[in-house]
Amino acid sequence: MNIKIRTAQLNKVKADAVITGIFAKEKKLTGELAALDNSLNGAISGLIKKGELKGKASEITVIHSLGKISASKVLVVGLGKKKELTKDDIRGTVAEATRLLKRKSAKKVAVGLLRTDETGISLLDAAQMITEGALLGNYSFLQHKTKKDANGNIDDLVILSDKKKSIAPLEDGQRRGEVIAKATNLARDMGNEPANFMTPTIMAETAQKVAKENNLEFTLLEKEQMAELGMGGLLAVSQGSCQPPKFIILNYKGGNTDKIDLALVGKGVTFDSGGISIKPSHKMEEMKGDMAGGASVLAAMGAIASLKPKINIMALVPATENLPSGCALKPGDVITGINGKTVEIISTDAEGRLILADALGYAVKMGARRIVDIATLTGSCQVALGNICTGVFANNQRLAEKVLAAGKEAGERSWQMPMFDDYKEQNKSDVADIQNVGGRYAGSITAAQFLGEFVGNVPWVHMDIAGTSSADVNKQQFPKGATGVPVGTLVNLALSMGN
Ligand code: BES
Ligand code: ZN
Ligand code: ZN
Repeated sequence: MNIKIRTAQLNKVKADAVITGIFAKEKKLTGELAALDNSLNGAISGLIKKGELKGKASEITVIHSLGKISASKVLVVGLGKKKELTKDDIRGTVAEATRLLKRKSAKKVAVGLLRTDETGISLLDAAQMITEGALLGNYSFLQHKTKKDANGNIDDLVILSDKKKSIAPLEDGQRRGEVIAKATNLARDMGNEPANFMTPTIMAETAQKVAKENNLEFTLLEKEQMAELGMGGLLAVSQGSCQPPKFIILNYKGGNTDKIDLALVGKGVTFDSGGISIKPSHKMEEMKGDMAGGASVLAAMGAIASLKPKINIMALVPATENLPSGCALKPGDVITGINGKTVEIISTDAEGRLILADALGYAVKMGARRIVDIATLTGSCQVALGNICTGVFANNQRLAEKVLAAGKEAGERSWQMPMFDDYKEQNKSDVADIQNVGGRYAGSITAAQFLGEFVGNVPWVHMDIAGTSSADVNKQQFPKGATGVPVGTLVNLALSMGN
């Protein structure tokens, strides 16, 4: 989708459809809206009078212009109460409107929705939200459809500016929105790819491409190097698969020291069958998305590199399949992680924590000063929080607050969970130092505590995206399938740390 900022009027702009908005209880239309209403012979004010158009949040009304203006359709979106309008509302509403217009095969769409003088939302923020909403709402995954035009896509979006001098801040917002939304859509593409098209090797190639396009340093560790480094967890999980594991490293240097200010670690299980502790077959296909954390990290790194915050970031993605075979890891086996801790395997389906342990230990070894990991780690987190928010677990409250704030800004909700030391008891093993399952209760927390065994004293946040990385239905900017969460959070976190 091509996005442009133009000074044109709603009733004159050449487009297939225009999107505009009204507030709740807006009785008298003014300015551009009044002009548009006039051109439409009072169609909008008529609907308001009849009570059909209330301006309630998430209300979308389609008016056919029947040749009265250049655009054949006018979408009037409800913006809710003027005082309560948030940036999230704009992003979500524009995404819904975009999805609707896409279905109706609109190719060129104009948005006249700023009204920033009335809402207190800045021009930059408004343009960023419109851009994100449009790009995220226009998303579809057609990679494996032989008829690609089945759903259609909007090709051009024009954001209408009333004044010439608004163009500069609008373009700044547009640029930031484009970078974040495109990265989110890349993470979605990776998550939606079938596992036979997103093997650890292909994931590494994708990372290399991101690195090349954004001037990032790319390093790939192979099995031999993993063995040298003592990555017993990653090697153990991968041993049942014919696909070789890959340990992907991207480096972004925006700071003026040699320190790694932040390590981003993402789970890259390209297919999780459960291994010998095999999962039930119902919905097992969804486990192609078990690399969503890794995808979000790789995609976010590309966005970060183009927004250039003044901070150094290292991204680590341990990538592997988790399959049963004659060579596979077995329940009862004991393995040794990168920091020398021994782990008794209770379930081979608790594989994410095994590969993350090695990546976290590697980040510590490399001297990372803060670590944030992202993983589709536990069904238990999904049971606790549903698909509404990401679980946040931390050993450091300051870093936790930063992650929570970055998520809020991105419209990607997250919620902090407790990390009392008592939970660690559940991970004790009779045979090894720890075991990889902590029992039935508080499963997302015991999983987080397991990871905590590998970060030492480094400030660390773990994000469990088992519930939020994919969706069952289209809702606001989130499509059915891979959502790309938490790319926006990670980008905002980097920006907040490096400005
Ligand atoms: N990849 C799964 C977690 C998951 C579940 C992600 C649902 C997305 C949606 C993870 O590897 C797993 O299987 N975890 C087990 C852990 C258990 C064996 C302790 C789980 O949550 O059941
Ligand atoms: Zn698993
Ligand atoms: Zn998994």
